Amino acid sequence: MKIAVLAGDGIGKEVTAEALKVLQAVVPKTVVLEVSHAPIGGAGVEAAGDPLPAATLELARRSDAILFGAAGEPGDEKLPFDMRPGASLLRLRKALGLFANFRPAFLFPELADASSLKREIVDGLDLMILRELTGDLYFGEPRGVTPEDGERVGINTMRYSESEVRRIGHAAFRAARLRNRKVCSVDKANVLEAMQLWREVMTDVGKEYPDVELTHMFVDAAAMLLMRNPRQFDVIVTGNVFGDILSDAAAMLTGSIGMLPSGSLGSGTLGLYEPVHGTAPDIAGKDIANPLAAILSVEMMMRLSFDLPEAADRIRRAVSSVLAEGYRTADIYQPGTRKVGTREMGEAVLAALR
Ligand code: IPM
Ligand code: MN
Repeated sequence: MKIAVLAGDGIGKEVTAEALKVLQAVVPKTVVLEVSHAPIGGAGVEAAGDPLPAATLELARRSDAILFGAAGEPGDEKLPFDMRPGASLLRLRKALGLFANFRPAFLFPELADASSLKREIVDGLDLMILRELTGDLYFGEPRGVTPEDGERVGINTMRYSESEVRRIGHAAFRAARLRNRKVCSVDKANVLEAMQLWREVMTDVGKEYPDVELTHMFVDAAAMLLMRNPRQFDVIVTGNVFGDILSDAAAMLTGSIGMLPSGSLGSGTLGLYEPVHGTAPDIAGKDIANPLAAILSVEMMMRLSFDLPEAADRIRRAVSSVLAEGYRTADIYQPGTRKVGTREMGEAVLAALR
């Protein structure tokens, strides 16, 4: 099992350290675990003058799975795109062809009162947002800021080819078959041609999965229904931009973005696992960030990349039990529970695993 650990910047370093300990604790004794670390983001600029150093990309390519923390630094957007620490993650996803980003939103019952919504709306919540990750406005050409008629114009292009929609569509239907057999495809087909094509292709792919129910929804309505009745959803499949936004919104249903893991796959076997949250510069280095999203990303890695459901279940049970024992980082803290830091939370999970 070759794992590349790209911890990156800000709280990425802190949460990844805890996740790595959990990984080392759950891998079966018969497996040879090979862990290598490489710099990315601001750490990449410092080490090699590039947010995504060639050596880091090479290491990632030769791995079975990547454990990623977070990348980016305040003021990033002033640098040219390729030099931005935050963009290193986009370059990595694109270079490795990781087009399918699985972002589950599930509620640990212990955290029902930490949700922004009422308990009766989020109780039992368990949905999967499948975000297309290598197309859309993020990568479409033309892009840039150019002068036009005496002022500057900013341009980005929403672009999806049929084959790009088709492959994420298949991933969505396959995922639904392992869940409750419902796919909701979210688009903006009433306004955007790229999304009209998206809807046509999704409908077409859906015909190959008669056992899975397919519905379509405009993104504005989906945002509303995610707040009003989130339990109606099983798998939501959507483009890169809408998926970015909806997954942060869905995170709040579960109590904190500090709880949500994600996994990204391409057409090969390589997977990238990372918390949905970012570098959180305001709390970095203070040992207060929630490591559970990173730890649960290891759970996803065990399931999706290594087919080790027992190891995955052990992590999930350990996290449930530390929550039941009252351990809370600041983002999920409530009076009457026990406030702990990043490391103490990691140690509690390790103790529960043992
Ligand atoms: C995410 C992040 C990234 C994205 C940023 C850091 C480039 O917000 O993983 O959701 O927009 O994809
Ligand atoms: Mn995001």
